[in-house]
Amino acid sequence: MASDSSTFPDRFGGKVLLLTGSASANESEVLGFGGATAWRFLREGGAAVVITDVQDEIGERSAESMREAGFQATYLHHDVTNEDDWLSAIERTVADYGRLDCLVNIAGIQDTMQIADTPLETWQKVMDVSNVGMFLGVKHGAEAMMKSGGGSIVNLSSMAARWASPYGAGYAASRAGMTHFTRGAAIQYAPHNVRINSVLPGWVKSPFTKWIWTDDKLSKYRTDRVPLGRWGEPEEIAAATLFLLSDDASYVTGSELLVDGGVTAGFYPPVTD
Ligand SMILES: NC(=O)c1ccc[n+]([C@@H]2O[C@H](COP(=O)([O-])OP(=O)(O)OC[C@H]3O[C@@H](n4cnc5c(N)ncnc54)[C@H](O)[C@@H]3O)[C@@H](O)[C@H]2O)c1
Repeated sequence: MASDSSTFPDRFGGKVLLLTGSASANESEVLGFGGATAWRFLREGGAAVVITDVQDEIGERSAESMREAGFQATYLHHDVTNEDDWLSAIERTVADYGRLDCLVNIAGIQDTMQIADTPLETWQKVMDVSNVGMFLGVKHGAEAMMKSGGGSIVNLSSMAARWASPYGAGYAASRAGMTHFTRGAAIQYAPHNVRINSVLPGWVKSPFTKWIWTDDKLSKYRTDRVPLGRWGEPEEIAAATLFLLSDDASYVTGSELLVDGGVTAGFYPPVTD
């Protein structure tokens, strides 16, 4: 069942994908964006995925579940704020699978406090994982892609890049940084046939948000503010990400794709009395 690719198009034949922050990729558990993206990439003909994270036990189990399903998959320990980790993850990907065609920068952490309560170290850490991680990924990932004629990179930002809240100012600022960096990077690497885009998810059920969607009150507060009337699923973020990674998006670079059920389109719910 898991290796049945018959219902999917063959968009990624022979291609190799590396995803950061993607340990949660075991289909018998709650999937992260990386996990949902990796599985569908493989089912759409991808040659191999390299899932990386700092949660080694979960990541190893996830890669094993993909191999058991008949796919080529490797898990690597990879702290995205560490340049040596980036260099060795890319070197190992190319050594094992011959090339790097696609990269998704997914690693992220949250700060949930108001500015007055946020320690500098927390602010710095959020910036480092979102922005330093993405910078190193684009720098070294694009270099590897250029060696095999080009590729595609997606930076997983957030609707928080567009829409501020009374909490998590560091997270929102780091996510806005991701979308703007994406534009500059897209311009720089377009002549080398490397496309770079960002995806801006809304509220999606994943390990990242489990503390919210398992709490009835916190969950309903959000559902009530989504014009489509529900939380998103990791597979819906994967679908948008894979569109941008694929040749279906061959003329798309420097763009940002909102996948938020309409939350940031305007005021909602309507005032009725
Ligand atoms: N789930 C949502 O509603 C939502 C909405 C908007 C944006 N996002 C963003 O999407 C991304 C993916 O989140 P997800 O929903 O798949 O949840 P997730 O928790 O499965 O993924 C985030 C991963 O990042 C990893 N990580 C943290 N610090 C790291 C580091 N220094 N190096 C490498 N990996 C590190 C974590 O271990 C975790 O596995 C995050 O960047 C998050 O900010 C999520």
